[in-house]
Amino acid sequence: MLLLGIDLGTTGTKAVVVDDRGSVVASATREHPLSAPRPGWSEQDPETWWQSTCEAVKAALATVPNGPKRIAGIGLSGQMHGLVMVDADGEPLRPCILWNDQRSAPQCERIEREIGLEAIVRMTGNRMLPGFTAPKILWCREHEPELERRARTHLLPKDWLRFRLSETRATEVSDASGTLLFDCGRRCWSEAMLDTLRIDRATMPECAESTVVSARLSARAGESLGLRSGIPIVGGAGDQAASAIGSGIVREGAVSVTIGTSGVAFATCDAWRPSARGEVHAFCHAVPGRWHVMGVMLGCGGSLRWYRDTFAFPQGDHGYEAIVAEAATSQPGARGISFLPYLSGERCPHPDPEIRGALLGLDASHRRADVSRAVLEGITFGLGDNLDLIRGLGIPVGEVRLAGGGARSAFWQQLCADVFGCPVLVSRGNEGGALGVALLAGVGVGLWRSVDEACPSIDSSAERKLPVASDSLHRAMDRFRQAYPQLRPLCHPA
Ligand code: XUL
Repeated sequence: MLLLGIDLGTTGTKAVVVDDRGSVVASATREHPLSAPRPGWSEQDPETWWQSTCEAVKAALATVPNGPKRIAGIGLSGQMHGLVMVDADGEPLRPCILWNDQRSAPQCERIEREIGLEAIVRMTGNRMLPGFTAPKILWCREHEPELERRARTHLLPKDWLRFRLSETRATEVSDASGTLLFDCGRRCWSEAMLDTLRIDRATMPECAESTVVSARLSARAGESLGLRSGIPIVGGAGDQAASAIGSGIVREGAVSVTIGTSGVAFATCDAWRPSARGEVHAFCHAVPGRWHVMGVMLGCGGSLRWYRDTFAFPQGDHGYEAIVAEAATSQPGARGISFLPYLSGERCPHPDPEIRGALLGLDASHRRADVSRAVLEGITFGLGDNLDLIRGLGIPVGEVRLAGGGARSAFWQQLCADVFGCPVLVSRGNEGGALGVALLAGVGVGLWRSVDEACPSIDSSAERKLPVASDSLHRAMDRFRQAYPQLRPLCHPA
């Protein structure tokens, strides 16, 4: 028996094929374009997701003998919070507005003013943030009112893909948690929040636990993917919960940090633990009966990509290696330079769409290597801020499992251990969310009895980096923390 996991990311779709021991036997990724039609906007055409999905799935299956015939279940993961408004036929009414789009900041401000932060946190466990889905629906109501009349369903990105695969409109608890229309404590849509925002409950898809089979592959989609019709599709998970499952972060006390386009600190909890003012997200985990808290910084790997592209490092993976190699020739604390990675605003710990990035403390003796080191340190300090938010909820952080593209660099792994002040574990060959949802599919089709049973087999070959204390690095961290309040007034003109 084989399982197929599909992760619809921001830059591309990854498909993995997993065997009945939970090991990845094939993997393929295909890119899709991202468009920024105006500053602060971020959109994608769902049709391009479908193309990258078909290509990635076919490429992954092609390398497995008899692959298509042996697929017994499919799991879907994806970028969270995006709004895909579809009509009665399931056609998108406009491009998807993505998780990193900041256009709905005025809607967020207005709702928080009218309803009050406490009431919003009480209803949903979270605060209004422009990245989340509900304020995007309100933005469309104000700016593209004709769409609301035609909109039949509000889908999240991976759930639009589910619709394309099965013609079923459904979601699951982990991704629904990021809409701000979901009562995360009770694991169901929040009638109170829907009523308050005048959003019709019928426009939200049915929602189940992440391991539940919610759809079956249609004959038409099966033809496009080279698979037989009727294969069960489980709910799956938002990319962060899915990636946590793929890294074995499923039990209370397990903590991970993922260095992707965005940066995420994530901790699993047995109980629902919203923070008083929604400083960290409190969402349902993709494990039935468990939750997670998470701090998300927007400009993580994205800041590094900007630095690579803007300061003429060679393109491609090689460019990142060159930055890291150069950074290693500077010193802890980057010889006094601080980088603030707020290039597209920030979410956690500073819910501030207006804040922008900065390089501080430059002098004529600095070399590019110092700036490279400052960029890596600034990103890592931002991740450390998010771990501290989690610690602030009383959740102990004994060790951190590192995932995502940045986890591949030995230099960055050590920097994380030094900044986080705890051991950092790195799994080899982490396939992220796609592996996580393939495991959920295995639970859904009865291969494993529970997510806990599905996970131990993937948790074995981890390397460990221990923290090394450095006064210069701690001074740099203090400088970094003091910089945001000073920068804030400059980015918020009166
Ligand atoms: C999570 C989040 C991002 C996106 C894109 O809250 O906004 O991780 O899911 O990866």
